[in-house]
Amino acid sequence: MDSRGACEHAEPVIPTAAAEKAKPKLVLDHSTWMLARRLLKESVRPYARYLGMAVLLMTLVAGATALSTYLLRPIVDRVFVEHNAALLWPVGLLVLVTFIVKGAADFGQAALMSFVGLRIVANMQNRLFGHLIGMDVPFFQATTTGRLLSRFTNDVQMLRGAVSDVLTSLGKEALTLIALIINMFVQDWMLASISFFIFPASVLPILRLGRRMRRVTVNTQEHIGSMATLLEQDFQGVRVVKAYGMEAYEQRRIADLIEKIFKLTLKAQLTRAFSSPIMETMGGFAITVVVVYGGWRVIHNGMTPGAFFSFIASLLVCYRPLKSLSNVNATLQEGMASAQRLYEVLDTAPTIVDRPGAHDLAGTSGQIHFEAVSFAYNGGNRQALDRLSLDIPAGQTVALVGPSGAGKTTILNLIPRFYDVTEGSVRIDGRDVRDVTLASLRRQMALVSQEVVLFDDTVRANIAYGRQGASDAEIESAARHAAAHDFIAALPQGYETMVGERGMSLSGGQRQRLAIARAMLKNAPILLLDEATSSLDTDSERQVQTALEHLMRGRTTVVIAHRLSTVINADLIYVIDDGRVAEFGTHAALLANGQSYARLYALQFAEEADADAP
Ligand SMILES: Nc1ncnc2c1ncn2[C@@H]1O[C@H](COP(=O)(O)OP(=O)(O)OP(=O)(O)O)[C@@H](O)[C@H]1O
Ligand SMILES: [Mg+2]
Repeated sequence: MDSRGACEHAEPVIPTAAAEKAKPKLVLDHSTWMLARRLLKESVRPYARYLGMAVLLMTLVAGATALSTYLLRPIVDRVFVEHNAALLWPVGLLVLVTFIVKGAADFGQAALMSFVGLRIVANMQNRLFGHLIGMDVPFFQATTTGRLLSRFTNDVQMLRGAVSDVLTSLGKEALTLIALIINMFVQDWMLASISFFIFPASVLPILRLGRRMRRVTVNTQEHIGSMATLLEQDFQGVRVVKAYGMEAYEQRRIADLIEKIFKLTLKAQLTRAFSSPIMETMGGFAITVVVVYGGWRVIHNGMTPGAFFSFIASLLVCYRPLKSLSNVNATLQEGMASAQRLYEVLDTAPTIVDRPGAHDLAGTSGQIHFEAVSFAYNGGNRQALDRLSLDIPAGQTVALVGPSGAGKTTILNLIPRFYDVTEGSVRIDGRDVRDVTLASLRRQMALVSQEVVLFDDTVRANIAYGRQGASDAEIESAARHAAAHDFIAALPQGYETMVGERGMSLSGGQRQRLAIARAMLKNAPILLLDEATSSLDTDSERQVQTALEHLMRGRTTVVIAHRLSTVINADLIYVIDDGRVAEFGTHAALLANGQSYARLYALQFAEEADADAP
């Protein structure tokens, strides 16, 4: 059953820029550490073995790198200074082997880290969808599509970056750095101590940069989400945009967002770019000191030239790991900002769930009772339904009529528990809908919403949507009863024809009949029907009417009526006004009463009656 169809919005609802702004910004109160721990525990731990192997290879890379600089000492001192010919080839070979080992180990660790990073992305996407599809209708109403989409794309990518880049830096680069530092101390501990005097001074400003980075990316992600939402609405509602000549207006709104994203992204990149020159300047300073002091030691204090070159090489090779480590914090902060947004979604539990010990609702007769039901959307003050009671007898057709905004769709939404009542209860065969399992409750009903929801799939798949295992014969029979078989058979590929995004390649009446066939196939005892308001031409109107009559036969039907024939044929009519029952009875009795129904009839249906009169 499609849940979105129940919230009828024929026109795309375009939120104003002000409404977007009013959304609260994410508050970064979780510490990075808590997020990282959770991420490690939930997403990374299953791959501990791969990571262990990667760390082993990283150690090899680090060792080989340091060894390659260490080897400079014997090369310079023994080969170049002492002219020891016997050592020339062995040392050369050793250098070659060192680089081969380093290259192979580097590839191995990179492959393992890619595998783990991409697995984490895939797992997170599956987990996210699994969670979201289980969320209730109020959640989707409160969250824009664009925001949800950006969780799936941007945020999981950031998470991958945080996991694989940070672990690679902390593993490979940090180990390499340590090995190089060891070599420097081995060559000359005095010189080593002096060069590392400068290092701590550069760490503090970099940590500060990282924090700033996190704030910027949170805002960027929010804007990217808003842009995705706006784009989707503009493209889906393109006919409205054009009909009202709003192209320039939409262009301005998008341009505003693009400009914001541009500024924030630039700020983030500049912040990031800033950290490299800092490291470089620091490096230059260290090298100057080393060259001057080291040269003095070699000249006056008996340090060998080999030791000096080995030291300088180590110091220069340090640059890359240092630079990458200086970015770690920013990458980590970005990733944790994404983790925070992802966990926020994952931690939101649906409120409409099975009660503990809920039983299945099976074999209902279909009798529905509303007992003093009050309901307000979003827990607000405005009562959409106000202590409303009504009775829908089993097997009968009950029509709901009333002015726009009276609460008719709201009544329909409460039966499959798209929303829960605030007060009172909705009962089916005497059982509160909140006491039975959601799955069994929704199995008892089929829904045909005002706005038909079709999926970008074949005609067959769209009809069989609620009953995956249905046979071809069953599908065709449902289509025949829904007066849809003939037009389907005339389609280029018959039942295998793709209906296009949201069924765009079909006419309005054809879409409705497919929706009716879908409900027909589900063959549930209760039918919830929100008649389409858009009028069809007389011929397809008649076909849809025939289809609906077939569908209603032998079921409890609650229909929000917009057609004269539906109200006249209903067993019972409820007139809803301002969230209450104003009047109820049969068409004839209500007309005779001369109250609200008579007025409504004159307003809504009389024209149709005149048109139908011979
Ligand atoms: N998702 C929602 N969030 C907040 N308020 C809502 C929502 N849906 C409906 N309302 C409000 O609840 C009231 C009842 O709306 P409802 O959709 O049930 O009216 P309706 O009788 O179906 O009207 P129509 O004939 O125009 O479809 C209206 O005042 C409406 O503004
Ligand atoms: Mg409605």
